[in-house]
Amino acid sequence: TERIILDCDPGHDDAVAILLAVGNPDIDLIGVTTVGGNQSLDKVTYNARSVLHKAGADDIPVYSGCDRPLVRPLKTAAYVHGETGLDGVELPEPVRPLENEHAVNYLVRTVMDSEPGTVTLVPTGPLTNIAMALRMEPKIAERVKQVVLMGGGVYEANSSACSEFNIYTDPEAAQIVFSAPWEVTMVGLDVTHHALCTRDIQRKIEAEGGQTGYFMGRLMDFFRKAYQENQDFDDPPVHDPCTVAYLIDPEVLYTERRKISVELDGKLTTGMTVVNMQGPEDPEANTKVALRLDTGRFWQIVEDAILRVDSA
Ligand code: BDR
Ligand code: CA
Repeated sequence: TERIILDCDPGHDDAVAILLAVGNPDIDLIGVTTVGGNQSLDKVTYNARSVLHKAGADDIPVYSGCDRPLVRPLKTAAYVHGETGLDGVELPEPVRPLENEHAVNYLVRTVMDSEPGTVTLVPTGPLTNIAMALRMEPKIAERVKQVVLMGGGVYEANSSACSEFNIYTDPEAAQIVFSAPWEVTMVGLDVTHHALCTRDIQRKIEAEGGQTGYFMGRLMDFFRKAYQENQDFDDPPVHDPCTVAYLIDPEVLYTERRKISVELDGKLTTGMTVVNMQGPEDPEANTKVALRLDTGRFWQIVEDAILRVDSA
């Protein structure tokens, strides 16, 4: 089993990542940390707690982290996720209180107190908390097993002509994370734009997934509409759970070892993930980039997990 900390900003697809992590027996979700991104920190933190409660996972602690990017102002994505950050569903009142400790302190403490190589970080929002943790305690880089993050893209973009939302929101934090001496896998839009929740997939999840399936269905209804209206998609790409699915079954993604840098002061390209795709893979690189998704395998894993979640 993989012990993970999910660092997220729920967010419709973050919510599915939470459900997947809770429902899959090979994932040991030890904590959830939150970061300002899709919506303000207070909203996404409430959402994370509420989704965990909905999923019968009140044993999992939630820590809230940074409310804005390291350098730039926060621009939320209400046009994709609505005013609450999770529009379209009734959110149950969480019962487990929010932890008092700051997410960055929690991240550092947990990684430093665990055996080396036993904690995997899964960021699915802007990388502010992870970069702060690296600055507070650089030694976490050698103790973390790996970082598997949703963000960026080689050939695809969604927030400007050449940038993806999580990286565009806090590019300085992203550059810190990619350049630290640890294993990072970038799961970007090149694969997540193929993780489309079609109506057929949604119908199956709703038919078989009980209360959790119904909950996911309502999330997808809103998400589909937002993507139809704003991004010219027929079905919504469910980005964030691609990270967790890869940890469950590495065959879900085809990856290559490539150097990745983030453009920080381009006139037109700020927030772009620049991936050197020239020549053979680079054995020296500490970063891997995901290039293809096995869509069938991915949805099988998500469906299985949704069926197992014990809804409140
Ligand atoms: C990313 O941006 C957010 O809106 C989603 O939750 C996902 O993490 C996709 O670009
Ligand atoms: Ca997200």
